[in-house]
Amino acid sequence: MLEKIKEIRAAMEKELRDAVSSEQLRELKVKYLGKKGSISEISKSMGKLQPEERPKAGQMVNELRQALEQNLARRQQELADKMLQAQLAKEKVDITLPGRPVKLGSKHPLTQVMDDFKEIFLGMGYAIAEGPQVELDYYNFERMNLPADHPARDMQDSFYIDAKRLLRTHTSPVQARAMDRLCPNPVKVISPGTVYRRDDDATHSPMFHQVEGLVVDEGISLADLKGTLLNFVRQMFGEEREIRLRPSFFPFTEPSVEVDISCMLCGGSGCRTCKDTGWIEILGAGMVHPNVLKMSGYDPERFTGFAFGMGVERIAMLKYGIDDMRVLFENDVRFLQQF
Ligand code: DAH
Repeated sequence: MLEKIKEIRAAMEKELRDAVSSEQLRELKVKYLGKKGSISEISKSMGKLQPEERPKAGQMVNELRQALEQNLARRQQELADKMLQAQLAKEKVDITLPGRPVKLGSKHPLTQVMDDFKEIFLGMGYAIAEGPQVELDYYNFERMNLPADHPARDMQDSFYIDAKRLLRTHTSPVQARAMDRLCPNPVKVISPGTVYRRDDDATHSPMFHQVEGLVVDEGISLADLKGTLLNFVRQMFGEEREIRLRPSFFPFTEPSVEVDISCMLCGGSGCRTCKDTGWIEILGAGMVHPNVLKMSGYDPERFTGFAFGMGVERIAMLKYGIDDMRVLFENDVRFLQQF
């Protein structure tokens, strides 16, 4: 009997040492302490011993049970510690490593130029007016003093939706909408927006952007237009820029002008960009035609106004030295990242 207990104890200690998982420990517990486990078996066989042998044997069995329980608990703890250490080693983070760089996006050059426009004109006290891109033929042409049979309509090849509606070919119809809304009060607005024409080459896109400007009040003169545009040009292209007004024709202005700026590349001495003239055309403008004022309800004897319109892509190309308009719409990040 005593031999048997020693044997069990030796086997048990070896098995405990060899156990490498808590699963194995659970199995050992059942094997030794369970109802049919070795220790229970041995307890049952105590009855066969001589009475004087029993206390000694009983004590040894108890010691065996206690030793097993203690060892199990210790081994359990050891295994848990080992697993924790393994996990900590595996999940270790080196907080001294440099972080992964987060790439910052940038605004599209057209958006930047649009933002510049708004900032410059808001600074001069203008409000922003908007109109629909699907516009009535009536606003796009008629209200801009181009009656249905006017030959000037041929100048703009348009995308028609139906007989009465089209994708607006310029932002000028917003002039009429703004005047309708504000008459008889003065008007001082810009309207940036998308416009559409049947054009597609290196310097024209079927979709592009314009900024329209309109001021209507008593006593507005061509000098106000010139001063406003000079201020705008110098803020957009630099303090040393000059402007020049050339007579031109637009149905909605009288007189009409085209406005050039002194070339920012050569400073006026002549280069490829300005075609050796020293000047670059950037916009159309003029004094609002009396008919246009009248159609909105303003008395042209009392009210006068100036208007201007320009292409945002063209301004962006000049400002950033871009020579093909299509790169503005291709969204090649190698191009866009430069801004
Ligand atoms: N709407 C003209 C165009 O698309 C640009 C323009 C010229 C607008 C003269 C104006 C203006 O307001 O006065 O070509």
